[in-house]
Parts: sequence; C-alpha cells; structure tokens
Amino acid sequence: MRIKKVPVKKIVNKIIDECDVILLVLDARDPEMTRNRELEKKIKSKGKKLIYVLNKADLVPKDILEKWKKVFGKNTVFVIDRNIYNLNSYLEKHSDYALIIDSKEKNKNYQSLSEILDFFLENKVNRSFNIVVIGGGVLSDFVAFATSIFMRGCNLFLIPTTLLAMVDAGLGGKTAIHFNGKKNILGSFYPASKVFIDFSFLKTLPNKEIENGWSEIIKIALISKSNLRNLIVQNENLNGIISQSIQIKMEICEKDILDNNERRFLNFGHTFAHMIESYFHFSVSHGQAVAIGIRIAVFFAEYFLNISYDKDVSFLLNKLPEYSLNLSGMAREILMEFIFAGLNALVI
Ligand SMILES: NC(=O)c1ccc[n+]([C@@H]2O[C@H](COP(=O)([O-])OP(=O)(O)OC[C@H]3O[C@@H](n4cnc5c(N)ncnc54)[C@H](O)[C@@H]3O)[C@@H](O)[C@H]2O)c1
Repeated sequence: MRIKKVPVKKIVNKIIDECDVILLVLDARDPEMTRNRELEKKIKSKGKKLIYVLNKADLVPKDILEKWKKVFGKNTVFVIDRNIYNLNSYLEKHSDYALIIDSKEKNKNYQSLSEILDFFLENKVNRSFNIVVIGGGVLSDFVAFATSIFMRGCNLFLIPTTLLAMVDAGLGGKTAIHFNGKKNILGSFYPASKVFIDFSFLKTLPNKEIENGWSEIIKIALISKSNLRNLIVQNENLNGIISQSIQIKMEICEKDILDNNERRFLNFGHTFAHMIESYFHFSVSHGQAVAIGIRIAVFFAEYFLNISYDKDVSFLLNKLPEYSLNLSGMAREILMEFIFAGLNALVI
C-alpha cells in the first residue's frame, strides 16, 4: 500500500476515489477552525473513511478541552484515564463534566461497565450526547462498550493516548470487557464517529508502553505486504509508522468490519495472547502477550507446516519486544487447549 501526502487544497475527486482511508490534518490549536466541512462531506459521500490527525500538537493550549467541547457541542461527557488526568493539570478544571478512571487491564470488567453506566444515568446522558474517551485501549474498549449499549448507543469519539491504542485499539470499532476470567468475551462492534490522533500524548508514555505498542505495529507489518515494512526496516520516524499502521488497519476493517474474513489476520498471535492474559489473570500487559503470542504462532507455523520466511520477516520478528514469561506453570489441560488452539488457528 502506498501513502500519498497531498495538500488539502489539492484533494480532488480522483484522489478521494483512489484512497480507502483519508487522514486529514487539523491544527491542534484550533481543530474546529481548520476543518473543511465541504471536503469532509465529499469524502463521506463516497463512502470513504476519514481520520483526523492533530498537527502542531506541541502548541496545544491548556484549554484544549474547552476547544474540544466546542467541537463536540454542549452535551459532551469526557471519560479520561487517571494517568492522563494526573499528567495534565489543566484537565482539573474540567472535572465537572469528566469521569476520571483507573483503567487497569484487570478492571476491564462488568463492575467497571456498571460504574460507567451509573455515571451516564446520574448525568442524564441521552442519545444526543457525545461521549469522548481520552486514554489507552483498556479505557476505550470498555467505555465504548458502555456507550454502545446505553440507550442503544450514543455518539462515541476516541482520543487514543497510547501507541497501542493509536495504531490498533482505537480503530475498527471492537469494544469489550472480560467476563468470568475470559478475555474480551463480552462486547460489540461500535466504531467511533471520529478518532483524533494526537502524537503529543506519546511524550509522557513510559517506554514499556511504547514497546507494547510496537507488538501491534509489528503484527500489522507481518500480516500486510506494505510500505510499513520498509518504514520499520529503514528506522523511519515513528509518526509516519503510526500513520501507515492506521491506514492498513482501517483498510482491512473497512472490508470486513464484523471480523469474518480478512480482518481475522489482525488477530495474528492473539489466540495465544488472550489465553496467556486470562491464565495470568490480566497481570500481563496485552502488548507483552501479543509479542509472545506472535512468537508462538510463528513457531507452530515453522514446526507443523514447515513454513519458512524471508529476511524482512526475520527482521520484524527481531524487532518484537523481548519478554520472558514462565509458561511451565500452566496446567496440563490448559497447555493441551493451547496446542489445539494453535493447530486450529493454523487450519482455519
Ligand atoms: N478494540 C480493539 O480493536 C483492540 C485492539 C488491540 C488491543 N485492544 C485492547 O487494548 C488494551 C491495551 O491497551 P493499552 O496498551 O493502550 O493499555 P492501557 O489502556 O492499559 O494503557 C497503558 C498504561 O498507560 C497509561 N497511559 C495511557 N496514556 C498515557 C500517556 N499518554 N502518558 C502516560 N501514561 C499513559 C495508562 O494509564 C495505563 O497505565 C487491551 O485490553 C486490549 O485487549 C483492543
């Protein structure tokens, strides 16, 4: 897949026809002012997906939430990850219309879902409301699920703040919570009306979370024969790698939003990853589990199907973050289930 950078003025019908996903760059200092509604309408009328990227985010003024509130309108509720909230003191003055949440993987459960729904009820949220989620994949997964079932669905906007959520969790409309110890077993397909990618959030993201995001970037590069591989091999700028990953994920999801065909490639390594996460009671991060899951899937492919791969694939596998996990404690039945899942994943 090729990426074309075109000045907004030059976006003409031909270019819209050629692309499945169009990333429009808005000036973060005033996203609303830089929107080009006519162009947006044209892109949407052709059934193409539109993603906004905030530019010059370093210059974001402290009252960005005020600005976003103007963008989203007055019936807006913000749900914000506690770490993001603590890192950005200017968010404090908006706490009257914001819910601050400790979004830990092990809390992505029925109780958190119920707390969000209570908050919606208490704040008299109705279907005309905008729910804006500012946080990582854990928060967006369960708040999006709540949003999808509250009054049969409110308007959802996502502002992903982790690398993993920017390239994967914030896109494509999968929502989920864990239930009875099983990973992501309850959920819905509910794509956000808009996703805002603001690279400046990455500045405060700890290294281990950047590594977690790399697991999903490498997965996307492994399943697609695209320019993303070259960007990674040539050690290109992270923002470009993120933009390309977004395009690939969106193109795949657009073709198969309900995960019946090609979207399943995006689950590469995830059969094992989800078993590992459930087995370790969600104390292992998703990014870690995916890196290990991909390695196990590759091992199965080599061992049982005698599949060999080229040097680019070896390079990408080497770029996966290194995690060691003691799997020997896993009970025999779980290991058997694990092996059957691996074999099934190979024959499906
Ligand atoms: N819906 C999907 O399609 C999809 C795809 C992939 C993964 N997921 C889900 O995403 C989840 C993992 O998401 P994640 O990796 O974003 O984890 P996360 O949401 O738990 O965030 C990781 C940590 O980073 C903190 N954080 C977030 N943004 C920050 C910032 N800018 N600066 C400093 N700290 C920040 C959070 O508070 C948290 O402690 C998993 O539950 C996984 O199942 C969903």
